[in-house]
Amino acid sequence: MIAIGCDHGGFDLMQSIKEYLDGKGLEYKDFGCRDTQSVDYPVYARKVSHAVLSGECDKGILICGTGIGISIAANRIRGIRAALCTDCFSAEMARLHNNANIVALGGRVVGSGLAVKIVETFLNTPFSEEERHAKRIHLIEAE
Ligand code: RB5
Repeated sequence: MIAIGCDHGGFDLMQSIKEYLDGKGLEYKDFGCRDTQSVDYPVYARKVSHAVLSGECDKGILICGTGIGISIAANRIRGIRAALCTDCFSAEMARLHNNANIVALGGRVVGSGLAVKIVETFLNTPFSEEERHAKRIHLIEAE
């Protein structure tokens, strides 16, 4: 199960991402928002982050206008590793090296075609399990 959420700046792109997920038969839970009325991105960052941390969802997708605010908000939550991606190489590395559990996108930055490819790469790339990367992730989580 994939958790997905956005603010008003990411709403249109979220519809394209949901179309892609529907087309692939991938299950997701939509945490809002529901339209392009102005809302506060930290609310949706928290909802998606908690769904991932609780185990309700395996991974998350967060979208705001730039992807910046919503990824900053998600990364304040311990255990969340949200990667703001504007290219597929970064999405791949975010999984291989950082074991990122959320991909963040900017609805006013990337087009829907590229965004779908970024999401696809993110969802289909496993963590490398390499010791040096696992150690660095543990260091992030340590006090
Ligand atoms: C909302 O206008 C915009 O600030 C928000 O979507 C996001 O880009 C913040 O980082």
